Amino acid sequence: MQKKIALAAAIALALFTTSHLATGSATEGLTAPTEDLVIDGKKPARFPHSTHLAIGIACGTCHHDGEHQELSAETIGTLNDATALRCINCHNPDHPDKNMQNPKDIFHARCKECHKAGYEGKNGPTKCTGCHVEKN
Ligand code: HEC
Ligand code: HEC
Ligand code: HEC
Ligand code: HEC
Repeated sequence: MQKKIALAAAIALALFTTSHLATGSATEGLTAPTEDLVIDGKKPARFPHSTHLAIGIACGTCHHDGEHQELSAETIGTLNDATALRCINCHNPDHPDKNMQNPKDIFHARCKECHKAGYEGKNGPTKCTGCHVEKN
């Protein structure tokens, strides 16, 4: 019994430490994750911040607030947790615009359109498997 509790505590600590390493500690505020994210949903897709930041795409190209004002790295740094950045917290059936309720509509509009049009002469993947990964 004792052992089980100690193990659970160790796992909890490990998870806590990993998630904090990923986003910076609460006192330092949030920074862009360095590891690839998997945007989870009906059809999960991979998103690497690093590739996009390396070519100079600003945080506010993707991140905005409830008034649709772009969020800067500085503003994101003042947030205590990532809830306000989660796209589907606003883009869900409560969103006033019907065309902005579904993950597919908003992600394809943001992600795929830029990949097609290109940024600074570079294009991103437009094939389904360029972004989508197998569901676990
Ligand atoms: C540039 C990246 C990208 C490409 C290319 C892309 N998708 Fe997506 N797609 C996403 C992201 C991000 C999501 C959000 C993840 C989710 O909700 O499961 C998504 C969501 C979806 C959904 C979720 C349905 C929903 O609204 O819940 C479907 C279906 C889908 N994509 C189909 C496709 C198909 C088919 C292709 C190829 C013709 C494709 N996607 C290409 C990024 C992409
Ligand atoms: C090309 C689009 C794009 C750019 C540019 C971008 N992000 Fe993100 N970011 C995303 C997406 C998509 C997510 C996942 C949101 C979700 O889970 O709904 C995310 C998630 C995050 C998260 C939360 C991570 C977590 O723990 O889930 C943080 C923090 C973050 N971004 C910070 C930044 C900062 C700081 C910048 C600028 C330096 C930046 N992002 C630039 C698209 C972008
Ligand atoms: C705090 C709430 C909120 C969050 C979080 C949020 N959005 Fe939005 N989004 C909005 C609002 C409000 C609008 C503007 C609706 C309008 O003009 O009718 C909008 C508009 C959009 C549009 C259409 C206009 C445009 O900019 O091209 C896209 C695409 C979009 N959001 C994608 C995203 C993505 C991707 C994320 C996550 C990285 C995200 N949103 C996070 C509230 C949010
Ligand atoms: C403003 C333009 C822009 C936006 C918005 C954007 N991308 Fe990209 N993306 C690119 C470009 C350009 C590349 C290719 C970069 C290179 O070749 O150096 C790329 C590359 C990628 C790659 C492959 C590269 C790698 O490191 O694996 C994936 C996966 C990807 N993007 C997913 C996404 C997803 C998912 C979103 C939306 C949440 C998104 N992108 C939004 C421009 C964009």
